[in-house]
Amino acid sequence: MSSNSNAPQKTILSFLILFVLMIISTIPSCSSSSTSTSTSTVTEDHHKKFSRKLSLKELWFKREKLSHLHFYFHDIVGGKNPTAIQIAGPPVTNASSTFFGLVTAIDDPLTVGPEPNSKQLGRAQGLYASASQSEVGLMMVLNYVFTEGKYNGSTLSILGRNAAFSAVREMPIVGGSGLFRFARGYAQARTHKFDLKTGDAVVEYNVYVLHY
Ligand SMILES: *[C@@H]1O[C@H](CO)[C@@H](O)[C@H](O)[C@H]1NC(C)=O
Ligand SMILES: *[C@@H]1O[C@H](CO)[C@@H](O)[C@H](O)[C@H]1NC(C)=O
Repeated sequence: MSSNSNAPQKTILSFLILFVLMIISTIPSCSSSSTSTSTSTVTEDHHKKFSRKLSLKELWFKREKLSHLHFYFHDIVGGKNPTAIQIAGPPVTNASSTFFGLVTAIDDPLTVGPEPNSKQLGRAQGLYASASQSEVGLMMVLNYVFTEGKYNGSTLSILGRNAAFSAVREMPIVGGSGLFRFARGYAQARTHKFDLKTGDAVVEYNVYVLHY
């Protein structure tokens, strides 16, 4: 009689034990014995394996944060030392009013303040192309290459549309390197100064970027 009433309890207990064991085996740190024995095969296989799953923590990416960067971009087209030069498209004098087809390579200084001699934070390196036939609409493809402080050596990649004569233009940040690995966000541009004679422009940038 007593053994009969114990039987369902024993089955429940053994199910519980089995359940707990299954849970434990799914926790990586608890199944260390199995991983430590397979470590050598993992490292040996590493060079032959096309893909594997990692957690962000394994690569030391802890918490995603939002940073705000503020700087001025100097697009110097005229003078003896231009930082923006035309590399393709019709001659400027022959171009349409929207400069459609013009491609410019840039290595523009990024500075703390709007003055040309303001402290340099980095460069904007890449291209912009006039991609609109109805207004001045640039396609920007460039990297911000930072050279100061903790961001020295880190980059942000921008790919977006810049309607240069609009008050505020927004361009996506599509990635980054160094401290900006896994970056995404947006950059807002406002023209600070534009010289109609030379074509030189100083543009204020506010960049909002998520990164680790
Ligand atoms: C520039 O315009 C002039 C005058 O309209 C024309 O003769 C010339 O062929 C054009 N040049 C180019 C490269 O389109
Ligand atoms: C930035 O990094 C480069 C390369 O490591 C170094 O030569 C340079 O001095 C650094 N600049 C600043 C301002 O720390």
